[in-house]
Amino acid sequence: MNNAVILAGGQGKRMKADIPKPMFKVLGEPMLEWVIKACEGAGINKLCIVKGFMSEMIDEYLNGRYETVLQSERLGTGHAVMQAVPFMKENGGGNTLVLCGDAPFIDSETIKKSLEMHESEGNSITVITAVSENPKGYGRIIRGENGITSIVEEKDATIAQKEIKEINSGAYWFKTADLMEYLGELTTNNSQGEYYLTDSVFIALNKGRRVNAYISENPDVVLGANDRKGLLELNTVARMAVIEKHLENGVEFNCIDGVVIGRDVEIGAGTEIMAGTHLRGKTVIGKNCLIGPNCIIDDCDIKDGVSLNYVQAFKSTIDAGVKIGPWVHIRPGSHIKSGVKIGDFVEIKNSTIGEGTAVAHLTYVGDSDVGKKVNFGCGTVTVNYDGIVKSRCEIGDNCFIGCNTNLIAPVKLGKGVYTAAGTTVTKDVPDYALAIDRGTVQIKEGYSLRKLKKRLEKA
Ligand code: UD1
Ligand code: CA
Repeated sequence: MNNAVILAGGQGKRMKADIPKPMFKVLGEPMLEWVIKACEGAGINKLCIVKGFMSEMIDEYLNGRYETVLQSERLGTGHAVMQAVPFMKENGGGNTLVLCGDAPFIDSETIKKSLEMHESEGNSITVITAVSENPKGYGRIIRGENGITSIVEEKDATIAQKEIKEINSGAYWFKTADLMEYLGELTTNNSQGEYYLTDSVFIALNKGRRVNAYISENPDVVLGANDRKGLLELNTVARMAVIEKHLENGVEFNCIDGVVIGRDVEIGAGTEIMAGTHLRGKTVIGKNCLIGPNCIIDDCDIKDGVSLNYVQAFKSTIDAGVKIGPWVHIRPGSHIKSGVKIGDFVEIKNSTIGEGTAVAHLTYVGDSDVGKKVNFGCGTVTVNYDGIVKSRCEIGDNCFIGCNTNLIAPVKLGKGVYTAAGTTVTKDVPDYALAIDRGTVQIKEGYSLRKLKKRLEKA
């Protein structure tokens, strides 16, 4: 069965942070995750991740999703693959794909097409390569009359070899049994004193085995990040690729300043995304929406014709035609139903807001089930936390909540209930009733004048 070994033992010293390099994020996802997804997309589900530096971070991230193996000393890419020999023995009989955990743009198509070449030609090794105008730092592909003859690392290359533009992506298909044989024959006889996996090309050819290079149509497959600047470049490449995909799908962007869209986000045609907008996670946005400026939308399901302006929304559903903003926070577990209007300085948390309801300003609705066509006065608060437990509020259809109402949960307002401005509701209110909690206003005529007079007399 075909399997993959992902090398993720490196530190990335030049990043200047205590994080394994493959855990640095591109468009919000660790580079390692990009590589894993490329395997999954190509139908390779037997994976072994070689960890080393700060291995516990990789364990924590993977959370048992895939097998891992520890490389306790960092002795080169060949040595890293040696750690996966028990995994290869268990999953032998087919081919092994070796990948670098810090080259996130390897894609499923390249993996599939290179495997086709590997199998149809009966290769022992198929190296995935790319042609680059800027080959510095990569292993160069040396070709002879009969194809590839070896891979030479930058540090071991002659001046003439450094001119070669075909480079090693660090991704290869091996016949699993052959790979285990080559690993046993690697030496550290090179300028870095490391076990180079790349030497297996030379070893295979000496044994008369077939080796070929698959030149990827996507030159980005080689790109990796060695420092912060490189990481920013990877993010820029990924960001532009995502935006271009949406442009092709009919999404409108008039200014992409500060626009960052995760690659799993879906957006319908006719929707406009404005500056400063971050769309993350598994967010799905319908057609003809207006999103932005300055929104963060994470893991949300947003239906057609929604308008969001300066909104942050997380793990929530927003139905068709809803208008929200500016300065609104929609927290996880909320469902905003169609025709709702939510205005400035409103926070909604873990609540359902029924069709046609208006929450216009300065209001907190938490842990509540709100019916249809309710009107919230300015400054309403659902008091959902008593310091120990959180409780829910239920608000029936057509309620009219007066300004500065406190609803002390758990509490239920029936249908068509009115609350007077400034009321603190501590018990359930039946359908069509008014809840009013107000001291009588006392008017003391001439009060301030008398006070002023006293002061002047003292002075
Ligand atoms: C390697 C290739 C080079 C290729 C380049 C592509 C070798 C000798 N050279 O070089 O031909 O052009 O990748 O990016 O293989 N790693 C470990 N343990 C180790 C060493 C490395 O897990 O002991 C991991 C790293 O985390 C990284 C990957 O292997 O994910 C590649 O290692 P790196 O040191 O970046 O190799 P390069 O020198 O870039
Ligand atoms: Ca590298």
